[in-house]
Amino acid sequence: MVGTGPAGSGAAAAEPSGFPSGGSLPPAGHRLDEADLDPDPLAQFRRWLDDARLLGLPEPTAMVLATADGAGRPSSRHVLLKRVDQGFVFFTNYGSRKGRELDANPRASLCFPWFAIGRQVIVEGDVAKITRAETEEYFATRPRPSQLGAWASEHQSQVVPSREWLDRRYAEVEARFAEQDVVPAPPYWGGFRLIPTSIEFWQARPARMHDRLRYRRADADHPWHIERLSP
Ligand SMILES: Cc1cc2nc3c(=O)[nH]c(=O)nc-3n(C[C@H](O)[C@H](O)[C@H](O)COP(=O)(O)O)c2cc1C
Repeated sequence: MVGTGPAGSGAAAAEPSGFPSGGSLPPAGHRLDEADLDPDPLAQFRRWLDDARLLGLPEPTAMVLATADGAGRPSSRHVLLKRVDQGFVFFTNYGSRKGRELDANPRASLCFPWFAIGRQVIVEGDVAKITRAETEEYFATRPRPSQLGAWASEHQSQVVPSREWLDRRYAEVEARFAEQDVVPAPPYWGGFRLIPTSIEFWQARPARMHDRLRYRRADADHPWHIERLSP
């Protein structure tokens, strides 16, 4: 059971990491101090992503993407992080629910759930479409079945009649591109880049006295400030 009591309530003895049961314990002695942080949160993120990869976490680039529609109604789903540059880049169908919500309300939050090493990163910021050239460059690196799948699922997030209907769509697309070596990116498919204004690094610590260090800036033209949050 996941304890909810305050630190020192007694739960610490049974649950020494303070990390929810069901996950593995973080590596002993892990902590996050201000002195350890890179001044650039994107460099700090790359360090933690490297750790997640090196430690063999499943799908280390999977992140929960939370969006909201024009009325503020939230929704979330996993997507894969494909690039970290000045922001966080992911790819999807622009006509999907998330795509339409980002059109109406171009702000989002990302959450990397690295349970097995007792870490979480939460990112917030503004989102914009990447350039068509960037999308085409990435699409060309995808395996052919994934490229065909993007064409077959033209109306991602919409109700379809059946599995058979979807399989027929895929077969039609396969036949359509059979003579072409290169499958182009569908016009309705592409990348988004989230430019962060807040990035929180969360490290599990004993007794639920976790480390939470957040970088925050007013916008992309302002410097980052680092602040510690109560766990
Ligand atoms: C681990 C994982 C990774 C995923 N990666 C992507 C992705 O990179 N892009 C994408 O469009 N959907 C991805 N999906 C599927 C989405 O979670 C979702 O079902 C789909 O994008 C439709 O979402 P929407 O209806 O909220 O727009 C992934 C799902 C999982 C479980």
